[in-house]
Amino acid sequence: MSRIVVLTGAGISAESGIPTFRGKGGLWEKFRPEELATPEAFMRDPRLVWRWYDERRQMIKRARPSEAHRILARIEQEAEHFVLITQNVDGLHQEAGSRNIIELHGNIWRVRCLSCGQRYYLEETPLREIPPRCHFCGGLLRPDVVWFGEMLDPDVLERAFYESERADVFIVVGTSAVVYPAAHLPVVAKQHGAFLIEVNPEDTPLSEIADVIIREKAGTGMKRVYEILKERGDI
Ligand code: APR
Repeated sequence: MSRIVVLTGAGISAESGIPTFRGKGGLWEKFRPEELATPEAFMRDPRLVWRWYDERRQMIKRARPSEAHRILARIEQEAEHFVLITQNVDGLHQEAGSRNIIELHGNIWRVRCLSCGQRYYLEETPLREIPPRCHFCGGLLRPDVVWFGEMLDPDVLERAFYESERADVFIVVGTSAVVYPAAHLPVVAKQHGAFLIEVNPEDTPLSEIADVIIREKAGTGMKRVYEILKERGDI
């Protein structure tokens, strides 16, 4: 029985029309993350930050899962043990039918109240009120995502490392592997004996330790991954 673990980044949603963060056309080319994706930025100007998230939510709402999202959902159905760890907050893996998902950086469709702590899905798009107010106490809501300088949920992180350390096959798709602790998961998997497959049109710090490098976009690359898993008998 093969334990298949996957780590995805923004690159897997690029073919859904959602810009990545780094590289040409990336969000951090147009915006300064310290102005929009930090707790300080939010406390300084919650309206500005929410306007940016509302725009991203509207764009994501129009997006559909890519071929790569769908192939991952198919692999999960055929695998005996499958865990999808994603850095993405767009919810497209869920929409494609993936089930066993660990969202390292939260979810753009969830909000969290700074006053009462309530956490819930708020999917209205565009938002009627910016910044949105808590349905329960009227307090200020924030996107339930992990910003720069913030800790990841310790339980989420523990589960991600637990699965990575026990992976027989670890597949990394569409991440520049420069943001930690996410970027450490494939390294830990490899250190514990996993067969490491990378799908990315460009070189990353993981490329030198990968057993197989598929220099393709996610859609084409995931077709090849499916074939490799079949050839190896992992699915
Ligand atoms: N298919 C596969 N990979 C692609 C494609 C594609 N069509 N297009 C681009 N890529 C690759 C790029 O080569 C790059 O390596 O996807 C990667 C995107 O890297 P980033 O933009 O840095 O996104 P990601 O790695 O997910 O960023 C990690 O940083 O800003 C924070 O919290 C944010 O979760 C994000 C984290």
